[in-house]
Amino acid sequence: MAMDRRPDDMVRITTPELADAFIAEQIEALRSQIGDRKVLLALSGGVDSSVVAAMLIKAVGDQLVCVHVNHGLLRKGEPEQVIEVFRNQMKANLIYVDATDRFLDKLAGVTDPETKRKIIGGEFIEVFAEEARKLDGIEFLAQGTIWPDILESEAGIKAHHNAGGLPEDMQFELVEPVKILFKDEVRVVGERLGLPAGMVYRQPFPGPGLGVRCPGAITRDRLEAVRESDAILREEFAKNGLEGKVWQYFTVVPDFKSTGVKDGKRTFDWPCIIRAINTTDVMEVTVEHLSNELIDHLVSRIISEVPGINRVLFDYTPKPPATVEYE
Ligand code: XMP
Repeated sequence: MAMDRRPDDMVRITTPELADAFIAEQIEALRSQIGDRKVLLALSGGVDSSVVAAMLIKAVGDQLVCVHVNHGLLRKGEPEQVIEVFRNQMKANLIYVDATDRFLDKLAGVTDPETKRKIIGGEFIEVFAEEARKLDGIEFLAQGTIWPDILESEAGIKAHHNAGGLPEDMQFELVEPVKILFKDEVRVVGERLGLPAGMVYRQPFPGPGLGVRCPGAITRDRLEAVRESDAILREEFAKNGLEGKVWQYFTVVPDFKSTGVKDGKRTFDWPCIIRAINTTDVMEVTVEHLSNELIDHLVSRIISEVPGINRVLFDYTPKPPATVEYE
């Protein structure tokens, strides 16, 4: 039977052997919980849901139905990676929904950060529920709940996003195979399940995605500038040995323009802000200082490769007083 709480004396999973033992135990527990019935999973491509997917594919194969909702606010290459890893390599039963237009149409003209978050969260549940309704005989909902989620919800710090918000008539039994694990343990388990390192060791990414990095009303062109500049930043961090070392790094393209000059002509374009931070608990963060060479290289690439950008800025502000994200 699956465990509900992390035993006080549980050994931290830090080695392949410990991960393998955990996986074997969980697979047995999942098989006895699920039997020959069907399980649904919202697969974002983040570490937790990806590890849950990989574990369930091992345990119950095509009784698992994964739904990947592309809300149009994902990073460059993310939906493609989910399809490649889960559908092509792991042979998962994966439903891919490109809901970009739906989300961006709903978000058009919306400037308030919390309203944007609510629209993204609400629309996500609607799209997911619509897909779930098309399926027959689903009895379980799998979730990537981890131990800190449970501790934080018990401490009243954040609401446990437990099946949160699904319509009343859609009640499933929950399957939460990594809920007694800490994040570092989920990563070790993910590696042993054969997930690519780039997926298992990736930096945290907020649910509302690039939407909170395109402050104010989201437009497709500015969103594209965020996505392209973020891809350049990630590529350069990987090349320079900073991937996996710096806790979180991304770009923001604010909604104002400034004057510049290119090929002898005036430009009037957005700035791109680089943020790179380190932390242990995200309550307090420090800034990662980049080398001058890397900064110069980033500036030159972003300016020349990303349409709509004529200036690159670096955010030197710790938290507090600045939060990690811009809204
Ligand atoms: P802040 O901006 O609050 O961010 O200093 C702290 C950490 O939380 C992430 N973050 C979010 N994650 N939904 C999420 O899933 C959100 O709405 C959200 N807002 C911030 C942020 O990326 C950072 O790691």
